[in-house]
Amino acid sequence: MTFQTTPEIGRFITFEGGEGVGKSTQLARLAEHLRECGFEVVTTREPGGTPKAERLRNFLLSGRAAPLGPLAEAALFSAARADHVESLIAPALNRGAWVLCDRFADSTRAYQGARGGVDAKTLALLERAAVGETRPDLTIVLDLPAHEGLARAASRRDGGDEVDRFESEKPDFHEELRQAFLDIAESESERCCVIDAARSVDDVARAVRAFVHDRFLAHAAQAAQ
Ligand code: TYD
Repeated sequence: MTFQTTPEIGRFITFEGGEGVGKSTQLARLAEHLRECGFEVVTTREPGGTPKAERLRNFLLSGRAAPLGPLAEAALFSAARADHVESLIAPALNRGAWVLCDRFADSTRAYQGARGGVDAKTLALLERAAVGETRPDLTIVLDLPAHEGLARAASRRDGGDEVDRFESEKPDFHEELRQAFLDIAESESERCCVIDAARSVDDVARAVRAFVHDRFLAHAAQAAQ
C-alpha cells in the first residue's frame, strides 16, 4: 500500500515508557510498516543518535554523571538532545522524512523531573533550548506494570546487556516513572496516546499502526481516492 501525501511534510513520532516496555521493538515494527507504505523513515534513539550525543550517552548511562545530581543529568540529556535535533532530527523532517525516536524530552520530564525532583519550569527552559520548535507530532506511551517491564529488561540482559544507571534503581522508582508517563499523556492528550504494552508484540504493533493511520494517513488515503 503506497500513500500519496504531501511529500514535504515529515512526521515526528516518539516512543516513551519505562524500562522493558518494548519501545525499540515497536519502533522497528512501525518503521518497517511505514517504509512499506512508501515513506522515508529515519529511526533514532535518546540519549544518542549523533556522535556527540552518543558520547554523552556513554557518560550518562555509565552512572558517572549520577553524583552530579538530577539537574546536571537533565542538562546533559538536554545537551545531547540539542545536537540530536539540530544535526539529525530537524534536517530529516525538513526533507519530508518521518522520524521515529526511542525516547525524547518526556523521558527527561519523567526521570529527572517527576522522579529526580528537578522543577518543571527549569525543565521547560531546558526543553525549549534543546528542541526549539521541533516537538513530536505524536508520542506513543507504551504502558506496562513496572515489575513486568523490569522482568523483560532482565531477560534481555541474559543476552549480554549490562544493567544501566536507571535500570538499577529500586522498584518504587519504576512504578513512579510509569505514573509520570501516564500523567504526561493525560496532560497532553492531543499529542500523546497510551497503548497497553502487556499484550503480544503483534497485538501492540497492530494498535500502534492503527493509531498512526488514524492520526496521519486516513485523510491522505481519502484524498488519494
Ligand atoms: P536505554 O538503554 O536506551 O534504555 P531503554 O531501553 O529503557 O530506553 O537507556 C536510556 C536510559 O536513560 C533509560 O533508563 C532512561 C534514561 N533517560 C533519562 O533518564 N532521561 C532522558 O532524558 C532520556 C532520554 C533517557
